Amino acid sequence: MFTKAKEAHKFVQEKLQGRSPRLAIVLGSGLGDFADKVEDRIEIKYNEIPHFHKTSVKGHKGRLVCGFINGVEVIVMQGRFHAYEGHSQEIVTLPVRTLGLLGVKTILLTNAAGGINPQYSPGDLVCITDHINLTGKNPLIGINDDEQGERFPDMSNAYNPELNESLYDCAKQLNIDLKSGVYAAVLGPSYETPAEVKMLGILGADLVGMSTFAETISAHHMGMRVCAISCVTNLAAGLSAEKLDHDDVKNVANMAMQKFTDLLLKAVGELK
Ligand code: HPA
Repeated sequence: MFTKAKEAHKFVQEKLQGRSPRLAIVLGSGLGDFADKVEDRIEIKYNEIPHFHKTSVKGHKGRLVCGFINGVEVIVMQGRFHAYEGHSQEIVTLPVRTLGLLGVKTILLTNAAGGINPQYSPGDLVCITDHINLTGKNPLIGINDDEQGERFPDMSNAYNPELNESLYDCAKQLNIDLKSGVYAAVLGPSYETPAEVKMLGILGADLVGMSTFAETISAHHMGMRVCAISCVTNLAAGLSAEKLDHDDVKNVANMAMQKFTDLLLKAVGELK
């Protein structure tokens, strides 16, 4: 089992020349430039790594960057795979499995998301406290590899409460208003209809997006500590008169970049 991840791991491990990052950061749409903060870097393009695919989404570079931020060894995923690109759950979660095999213990996932909670505005940062998986998919479907994790993992604290506390603390010290919320995961790639957004709100979702849940499940399955931050790039469909557009998603994420960067730079020292 997980043969693809094991082969990818072997390749990446050789490229890393003895480095062993314990903290990983996954950068979502429009947030990829944070990887520029990594010093003394080793870059590995996804298309060099066995079984990894090219990312087809604009704004996703598609590489692993390993190095140091404020002296902390990190590995950053600049771009991810999504089910809406036609990828299986195995491929979507292959990078996270590879990081787990490398010895990563803590993973910070980031994404762009639509805001459903009326308290949110575009540009807000939200710490994800839980998710509702509405995709009908689950990366653990299939024979379980007991070496990697248990068959029926408990998801009660999948978004690690201690890490969340550290994120709120960091935000407070920086005077950043880090909100908290529940992320509804949908398949995409079409945005939701206004009726779907209304339903998601009734179900208890504060945010909606097309990624992250599968990475959370896989990383948690492997025993990694997971936390996640969404950048609210737009109000979800039907909540504003604006037409949804991926370019706007990237632009708003870029506008939130300074705040996002400040928070992550501080968080790296706390989450390690
Ligand atoms: N819906 C789903 N995914 C998203 C959105 C949205 O409104 N914005 C950014 N990613």
